[in-house]
Amino acid sequence: MPGAYESLPAWTYSDPDFFREEMDAVIRPAWQLVCHRNDIPEVGDYITLDILNERLVAVRDAEGSIRVFHNVCRHRGSRLLEGQSGSCPGRIRCPYHAWTWDLEGALVNVPYEKDFAGFDRTDHGLAVAESCEYLGFVWARLLPGGPSIEEQFSPYIDEISHYRFEEMQPLGRVTLRPRAVNWKQIADNYADALHIPVAHPGLSGLVGNSYGMEVKGDIHKMWGDVMESRKDSWSTRAYKKHLPVVPHLPEHLRRHWCYYRLWPNVAFDVYPDQIDFMQFIPVSATETMIREIAYVLPDDRREMKAARYLNWRINREVNAEDTVIINRVQDGMGSSSFDTGPLAKTEVCLLDSVRRIREAVPSANAPKP
Ligand code: FES
Ligand SMILES: [Fe+2]
Repeated sequence: MPGAYESLPAWTYSDPDFFREEMDAVIRPAWQLVCHRNDIPEVGDYITLDILNERLVAVRDAEGSIRVFHNVCRHRGSRLLEGQSGSCPGRIRCPYHAWTWDLEGALVNVPYEKDFAGFDRTDHGLAVAESCEYLGFVWARLLPGGPSIEEQFSPYIDEISHYRFEEMQPLGRVTLRPRAVNWKQIADNYADALHIPVAHPGLSGLVGNSYGMEVKGDIHKMWGDVMESRKDSWSTRAYKKHLPVVPHLPEHLRRHWCYYRLWPNVAFDVYPDQIDFMQFIPVSATETMIREIAYVLPDDRREMKAARYLNWRINREVNAEDTVIINRVQDGMGSSSFDTGPLAKTEVCLLDSVRRIREAVPSANAPKP
């Protein structure tokens, strides 16, 4: 058996068979974030989520509720709604043979219907995915069952509720950024604390040595406080100067940056001026899509506009730095010289990740595939 402080073996970051097992045991049973309810405010607005072989779509129905369907035609399996988002007022119509559903998922039109023997429209409603709304976000799960999202967020709901996620509005659109690495590479790097002072001079200038982390239930939390430091860059200095008081936040959160990662692949970056979600969508053993979008509460103050821009600038730099790192590690893990490495006992989030993967996919305990 591997030691308690040992990383997962390198082969688990590139082996296609392991990837399949891991998807079934780790990703399919987990809640995935589809969108915020304010991303689809009007009847017929939709957002799609492509993950593994599944094609999901969240649609605002005629009554104003949000439904999550499989975005797949019940006739011959064609994709139904195009792109990442859009609007389909009133009807969902398949581009192949024009079968048409209403926004509640009932089949309402079938050309040449009498040519289908013993046909009953009610047998061919759109397939529904398990879904729920929580914190203003729409969640879906590929494999039903498992804990509720309320239960998973319960350790942190008191502090998160200060931010008023439910009322937030999207800032821009969902972006997709492909990365040529295993999904765990991105997830590990997200929760790795020891690299912050080394690889992110800007971020560490912002939060000094206040960086902390902890694990509660299914959530990994990391945080830092915006503070005086000697390592300021232009952006961090300007952010510290312009970030205005956010009156709805309690004092201790007004200059606090924190990150909540819901195991395994959804994370909220939570700042006083804005929040965003990041989703690490596994594509293959060595490819991942980062899906991301920011949300804000309406605030017209000029300092707030400046703070939001500066936040984006600081994080654009952090992302660029992390992209270089994850590529280097994915590459190095292919070397015959590297198998596993030791994890510091302070890396509680990384250690918890390793433990969870080993538990869910026991073959991860083997030194070789
Ligand atoms: S595949 Fe959709 S109508 Fe035929
Ligand atoms: Fe990083």
